[in-house]
Amino acid sequence: MSKIILTGDRPTGRLHLGHYVGSLRRRVELQNSGAFEKIFIMIADAQALTDNADNPEKVRQNIIEVALDYLSVGIDPEKCTIFIQSQVPELCELAFYYMNLVTVSRLQRNPTVKTEIQMRNFETSIPVGFFTYPISQASDITAFRATTVPAGEDQQPMIEQAREIARRFNGIYGETLVEPEILLPDNAACLRLPGTDGKAKMSKSLCNCIYLSDSAEELHQHVMGMYTDPDHLRVQDPGKVEGNTVFTYLDAFCRPEHFEKYLPDYPNLDELKAHYRRGGLGDVKVKKFLIAILEEELAPIRARRKEWEQRIHDVYALLKKGCETAQAVAADTLADVRRAMKINYFEDKELIEEQARKFAEGK
Ligand code: TRP
Repeated sequence: MSKIILTGDRPTGRLHLGHYVGSLRRRVELQNSGAFEKIFIMIADAQALTDNADNPEKVRQNIIEVALDYLSVGIDPEKCTIFIQSQVPELCELAFYYMNLVTVSRLQRNPTVKTEIQMRNFETSIPVGFFTYPISQASDITAFRATTVPAGEDQQPMIEQAREIARRFNGIYGETLVEPEILLPDNAACLRLPGTDGKAKMSKSLCNCIYLSDSAEELHQHVMGMYTDPDHLRVQDPGKVEGNTVFTYLDAFCRPEHFEKYLPDYPNLDELKAHYRRGGLGDVKVKKFLIAILEEELAPIRARRKEWEQRIHDVYALLKKGCETAQAVAADTLADVRRAMKINYFEDKELIEEQARKFAEGK
């Protein structure tokens, strides 16, 4: 079976380093690996509206930001289909049918939905569309017959639910849909990159994000202000590496060649950590090292973004083309789904003939 990728992001803001290590960086590797027949990357505006119904302008403005972030990290529109969810109405129809295959209590048990409801203080006023977005996400994935969904850990319950829906559908209507698999980051630090304040997750409202589009100065400021070990007061004090954001970021970004280039006194990250634990290594030195590494990674991304920012018309043109390609594929799957569900009445000549005969004979 050929391997197909579908993944995406909600356009509620620019993309940050959490998105980068959690998924974007991997997408570029997968794109260049040649192991996938097709790759679809979706800007999930309809999903973003499930909890931003009163703020369509925010979603509208962020579509281009996310598209620019994709292009600047190296997602190649020649190799991937980048499209906008709302422009593929077939996805809604699929979701409408899948809704019959999922119970309310199953949705209530989805851990990601649970935490998100708490985070948004929805309590008793949960929008139905938000509550059911895992079903819509199952449509996104199955519409493209995706085998593989590269995503962060928080998406695991969504993929699990998509698998259940595909399995249930196939069980009732016959083998039609593909059960997808999640592809998680292979490095623990990348699974859930903390915010610069050490809090569990990067979040715009906490102002603890480093954006891909941040300038070199902003990057410098963010890293210099990063949460470290609050008990590591003097350079000579022993320090803690666990829960120390600077070291978590090094776990996510540092490669052996970085030492040779920027910190030749140390052979590798383990030695750097050992020195920090012993005492005698100051935060500033480690932070400067992290800045050098991040700058090396982000400078080309920033430069590519600057170029694409001068080509906004081209970006919209490639998105439009992507939407057309995506719609054709989704329409194909929808036709299979309708056939399997026996709601393809006008295609079914036999059904019409049989009924014509039956009624003519007065039975
Ligand atoms: N839920 C994802 C996010 O919050 C966005 C998304 C929508 C998605 N549909 C998807 C991701 C399908 C992977 C596959 O960023």
